[in-house]
Amino acid sequence: MNRAKTIIVSNRLPVKIVFNGEQMIYQSSEGGLATGLGSIYKDGDNIWIGWPGAIINEETKQEKIADDLTDRNLSPIFLTEEEYNKYYEGFSNETLWPLFHYFPSYANYSDENWNMYKAVNQKFADAVLEVLKNDDQIWVHDYQLMLVPQMIRAKARNAKIGFFLHIPFPSYEVFRLLPWRDELLKGLVGADLLGFHTYDDSKYFINSCQRILGLTTNSNQLFIHDKPIIADAFPISIDFDKFNSLANDPLQKPHEENIVKRKGKAKLMISVDRLDYSKGLINRLKAFDKLLEQNPQYIEKVVFVQLVVPSRDTVKQYADLKEEVDKMVSNINSKYSTLEWVPIHYFYRSFSIDLLAALYKTADIALVTPMRDGMNLVSKEYVACKTDETGVLILSEMAGASKELNDALVINPNDSNKFVKALVHALEMPVDEQRQRMRSMREIVSRFNIHHWVKVFMNRLEDVKVLQRKLS
Ligand code: UDP
Ligand code: G6P
Repeated sequence: MNRAKTIIVSNRLPVKIVFNGEQMIYQSSEGGLATGLGSIYKDGDNIWIGWPGAIINEETKQEKIADDLTDRNLSPIFLTEEEYNKYYEGFSNETLWPLFHYFPSYANYSDENWNMYKAVNQKFADAVLEVLKNDDQIWVHDYQLMLVPQMIRAKARNAKIGFFLHIPFPSYEVFRLLPWRDELLKGLVGADLLGFHTYDDSKYFINSCQRILGLTTNSNQLFIHDKPIIADAFPISIDFDKFNSLANDPLQKPHEENIVKRKGKAKLMISVDRLDYSKGLINRLKAFDKLLEQNPQYIEKVVFVQLVVPSRDTVKQYADLKEEVDKMVSNINSKYSTLEWVPIHYFYRSFSIDLLAALYKTADIALVTPMRDGMNLVSKEYVACKTDETGVLILSEMAGASKELNDALVINPNDSNKFVKALVHALEMPVDEQRQRMRSMREIVSRFNIHHWVKVFMNRLEDVKVLQRKLS
């Protein structure tokens, strides 16, 4: 007997291929989607369909990769160079990403890219239809695949389809700028359940459906020819136990001791982001510069470890940002360094999860200050690794996580004066206050973890189908 399975579909698989000469190596992917869902897809016959992160043209290599990945419940979709350029870099990351993160001046509107977005979405939908059996549930993820729900629905009328958006959904005034706004919304409402990180995101989505598609709505229900579908907030989280145990693992000690030795008596401040203009790297460096300028007593007393994970660096704005960050770090370091001390330790690469956990655990302060972020998992990972309940999280109010982590020092990253005040507050915060705040944030992240998120979303998807049957 065939058991029902969950089919996860996303642009990026949790595993990526990197080349060491001719040798292919499988590594974990970076980014919140891959790390968040990475803990839950391996159950039973579940399958995750997506792109393995490299352009592979030779059929024999494609077959080998497909074979290797089958054992891990992964099914690769290969993109050609043209698809990569127009669908991934082009429409996904030069149109949707900037617009949905409120950088409309960065958005580029190209019919050619849009046509390729449609074609690649169809390719993903066809891959789902190929493995879809009667009672399966389909879970489509993120902005790269917004047309897939309707493309599946067109061929499988009764399919159970969920969609989750991992980035913000913008307000109507911003969303309406898209020349293809109707088609994108029609693609999304092919799903039975649409999930967003925050209540505001889901409200903005419903509002756009009313105004652009003229749909009738009732609270969080939208009616598609009398059939109700639901849009709601499901704040994503992390595998708390994984990070918590890693931080408690004695094997981690050498990493931690190494970091503690290097920071000496200084306080350790960290930030961890993909290279992205949405992450607020420039505003953060400016605030750090201002901190040292206005408070010279912190010279040699604070070390800032800034980890920037390479991302989309063939897209112009990303390449420009990289140059700007490089320049600013070097200016700040040349301005304040002493013979014994360098203020910023800047890494442009990714860290292993062990090293990352050690960094989180030993950091006195974590700076998570995006200009805009759907959720931001780094903030939750930091909290999960602070097993002794000390440490301070400075969190941007523009990150979805700020709706849950109220005990962080919440700032507006554009307000440089308050930003510097928060840095001073964090550097001077008494341990009792740190413990009180961290304890309450750890409780939240531990309770509302990734397993809870999946369960709540899947139960809700089931409830929507029951409601639809009742009303049909
Ligand atoms: N991350 C990683 N390798 C690194 C640094 C970070 O895999 O060297 C992970 C990090 O642990 C987190 C994810 O990348 O789970 C970033 O997710 P977040 O939601 O913070 O931002 P996104 O990249 O999705 O915009
Ligand atoms: C964000 C997006 C994901 C994406 C990740 C990494 O988390 O929501 O869909 O996978 O960034 O970006 P990349 O373009 O490298 O997949």
